[in-house]
Amino acid sequence: MQFFLDTANIDAIKKYASWGIIEGITTNPSLIAKEGVDVKTRILEIAKIVDGPISSEVIATDTEGMLREGRAMAAWHENVYVKVPMTSEGLKAVKVLSAEGIPTNVTLVFSASQAMMAARAGATLVSPFLGRLDDISEDGMALVADIIHIFRNYNIQTKVLAASIRHPLHVVQSMKVGADIATMPPEIFEKLVSHPLTDKGLATFLSDWEKVKKFQK
Ligand code: E4P
Repeated sequence: MQFFLDTANIDAIKKYASWGIIEGITTNPSLIAKEGVDVKTRILEIAKIVDGPISSEVIATDTEGMLREGRAMAAWHENVYVKVPMTSEGLKAVKVLSAEGIPTNVTLVFSASQAMMAARAGATLVSPFLGRLDDISEDGMALVADIIHIFRNYNIQTKVLAASIRHPLHVVQSMKVGADIATMPPEIFEKLVSHPLTDKGLATFLSDWEKVKKFQK
């Protein structure tokens, strides 16, 4: 499973990309609004740091508008994935963009049937929002598992990106059900690296080493 960061914060992207295993970035209008920046400028800044898919979301809600915005975004950088909401207008836009060879990420997916429709339209990625389903007492991870199962039934190449991840267990569960990608806020990514037994074990190794340091040639 690939790790993506779900943020438009450049300091966080620089910090965590330096660990070497971030393979893409997802943004959305809310994340861009949090940074208060020009979206094109920020996407291009991100592209200098991360060499992988960078999702940039259209604002238009009609197909023509989505196509206009999507084509313009795709021309910014070869790694831009045009993020399109899961609506009937969005499906039409994905169909055209995909025929033009422009990669897409269909966002705000909350059911398996939506995921299949996005795949049939030619989506490169589908993003089930598992945390938002958990928030309303539905099982978000079950949806991710269902989509993966169904895509395998039909040998569908569209990748499943587990989105709206809220805690480290969501990441582990995403791996268990076979998600292709998980996108997560930087603070979740940070939490994944540590374990108290790793820290304790390392402290013991270092203090034991002190005792034999003088014998080293
Ligand atoms: C994914 O692409 C979305 O930007 C994101 O995961 C949404 O997460 P949220 O539900 O925490 O806002």
